[in-house]
Amino acid sequence: MKTIIVTGANSGLGIWTTKYLLDLGYRVIMACRDIKKTQKAINGFPEFDKRKEFIIRKLDLADFESIRNFVDNLSDIKDIYGIDCNAGISYEGPFRYTKNGIEETFGTNYLGHFMLTNLLLEKYNLERIVIVSSELHNPKNKSPFAKAVFKPVKELAYPKVDVNSTLQKQTQSFYATSKLCMVLFAYELDRKLNNKGLAFKAMVNAINPGLMLTTNLGRKYTFGENLYRKSLDFIFKFIGLGDSPKDAAKAVVSLIDSVNTSGKYYDKDKAVQSSTDSYDEQKAKALWEGSEAIIGAKFLAT
Ligand SMILES: NC(=O)c1ccc[n+]([C@@H]2O[C@H](COP(=O)([O-])OP(=O)(O)OC[C@H]3O[C@@H](n4cnc5c(N)ncnc54)[C@H](OP(=O)(O)O)[C@@H]3O)[C@@H](O)[C@H]2O)c1
Repeated sequence: MKTIIVTGANSGLGIWTTKYLLDLGYRVIMACRDIKKTQKAINGFPEFDKRKEFIIRKLDLADFESIRNFVDNLSDIKDIYGIDCNAGISYEGPFRYTKNGIEETFGTNYLGHFMLTNLLLEKYNLERIVIVSSELHNPKNKSPFAKAVFKPVKELAYPKVDVNSTLQKQTQSFYATSKLCMVLFAYELDRKLNNKGLAFKAMVNAINPGLMLTTNLGRKYTFGENLYRKSLDFIFKFIGLGDSPKDAAKAVVSLIDSVNTSGKYYDKDKAVQSSTDSYDEQKAKALWEGSEAIIGAKFLAT
């Protein structure tokens, strides 16, 4: 039985992805920051077959110690086939920080997954790595949301408040930029793991699951902002737009179960071009090395 780790498996896209993986016969390690909440989520999810092989393990991506403990505590698991880097946060308003003093969106969405995936690769021959990004990673995307702006890693991890912009716009941009970092990470990891012309050592792909207004991603938004999301969801459903985590999870699962590519970006189930910045190898290298410096470790050094 193949084992897959799904981060943020207790909600939205993550719990649907877990459900489908279990149905396909995978064993899933549900890596979540709150065990009780995860059990409650499973109990409130009728589609979840509790007879299947799932394990709940504590992981807080906003805490380096928790990430190390999570990996250390996997010693009872011999082989891990893959990981779905799914967990994510988005917030608007005053800046928030991880336990290690890093801006929370960059720290959780990107840096936590960067550290986790690399620590796992030191112990396991992961064959499938799925990196959940967003179309917001691409500044050409037509959206009122603030754009992704790549900067030196220290500025992404420890941003200064820009008095000429609103906190809402700045924190929105943190989210979009964290998702750009995810695509840069996916491509750099693919370059490091896979020699061109040889069989893939691991398949690493990034995915935009689409706009899913019914997940809990907006939990840190204000009442007004959430009301806006709910109304938008209603209108989108009415005109046949928008995506559900139930459908989006199928595309995520196909990257683990059936698609044989690496170093690609998927818009749901189709491989498409990602943003211009995401292909910039200098930026990817700077992001990798800057991330190593913050964590204080070297990964996949040649
Ligand atoms: N919703 C959309 O429209 C949309 C669009 C594009 C991409 N995405 C991406 O899709 C992924 C799933 O999001 P979703 O929409 O399903 O949102 P969601 O329902 O809020 O799920 C996010 C998951 O991430 C977990 N998480 C947050 N911070 C964490 C941390 N520090 N450590 C471990 N887990 C943490 C959450 O755990 P808790 O329940 O404990 O908070 C939750 O399980 C995210 O990467 C998101 O950026 C979403």
